[in-house]
Amino acid sequence: MSKYQVNKEGYYGPFGGAYIPEMLYPNVEELQQQYLDIMADPSFQQEFEQLLRDYVGRPSPLYRANRLSEKYKTNIYLKREDLNHTGAHKINNTIGQILLAERLGKKRIIAETGAGQHGVATATVCALKGLECVVYMGEIDIKRQAPNVARMKMMGATVVAAQSGSKTLKDATNEALRDWINNPVDTHYIIGSVVGPHPYPDMVARFQSIISEETKKQLLEKTGKENPDIVMACVGGGSNAAGMFYHFLDAEDVQLIAVEAAGHGVNSGESAATTVLGKEGVLHGSRSILMQTEDGQVIEPYSISAGLDYPGIGPQHAWLFKSGRGSYVSATDDEAMQAGLLLTKLEGIIPAIESSHALAHLEKMNFKGDETVVICLSGRGDKDLDNYMNYFGF
Ligand SMILES: Cc1ncc(COP(=O)(O)O)c(C=O)c1O
Repeated sequence: MSKYQVNKEGYYGPFGGAYIPEMLYPNVEELQQQYLDIMADPSFQQEFEQLLRDYVGRPSPLYRANRLSEKYKTNIYLKREDLNHTGAHKINNTIGQILLAERLGKKRIIAETGAGQHGVATATVCALKGLECVVYMGEIDIKRQAPNVARMKMMGATVVAAQSGSKTLKDATNEALRDWINNPVDTHYIIGSVVGPHPYPDMVARFQSIISEETKKQLLEKTGKENPDIVMACVGGGSNAAGMFYHFLDAEDVQLIAVEAAGHGVNSGESAATTVLGKEGVLHGSRSILMQTEDGQVIEPYSISAGLDYPGIGPQHAWLFKSGRGSYVSATDDEAMQAGLLLTKLEGIIPAIESSHALAHLEKMNFKGDETVVICLSGRGDKDLDNYMNYFGF
């Protein structure tokens, strides 16, 4: 088994585990005992693959960005998760988890969301399956991601505003966990990233691993080699990065680069660059690296992008960082916005601001010229148009 994957106890090195209140124990244990068997079942596999193909539109293209490659003098490929139904990678995970919830006999679905992409992806699969859906979202995010709130409501979901703390993703996650504690029997909590108690980080990474599975096949077809030199992705909780890295973890010659949100700068007091600012601790049910004060209070994160505005990273990322397998870097709001505009002008693709963070790191790299670089374009920028317009004054 890979030393970068979860072990039988639910840990990645020292990170992971299930640090949960006793009242959640039955739910989490049920998942721990059943998720691998359910996912391995041929009827599950068949329905998962069929929905990814016919409903989500997979495989997502691997596109060689010619003008971007020319600018940075190397070979850049974009894994086009932005072209998925609902506009981001999040739907890969929600399709998987709704099929799992069905098989566990759950009738009610809850979720947390930051940018709204995971909320939309959850509301979508609930409409698809006719299940009740409640999405928790920070009050601030409700304002900055209004189109996604409208989408969720159209699909029949109830959107509940999280009013505590920074009124963003962390607070929405707290509210969702509280709901789950109060409704343990009939409710499944679809966590939207590789965070939370074991088995969520592993389960979500497996559902997202389709990203690197397809990339290998597509690269082989296009370049004759299935492994690139470098893969890059942005990191909020870390699910698109986990999916992008998954099948390359043990290929140590493939460089893994994860880009966090530096907000106004890592030392500005307004940042979400967890690996720079964080320390080891427990958040939302697992041991990882998180931004906290001396006495363990969570520090409010900040990023212009709602999907990266999270004070922690998933436990697998903490392990990839600590073990040195992955390089964890960051991009500021300004760097990301400029990179988003650059992609739009050079390739005619408006990226989600989250994905723009991954693109921004290109500016800081020195290429020899013959590398193959794959960047996970985790989402499309439609939801961010207001933000782009305000920033650039269009
Ligand atoms: C388009 C997009 N990319 C990236 C993220 C960050 O999440 P993760 O780190 O789990 O991929 C989000 C979260 O909402 C998102 O909407």
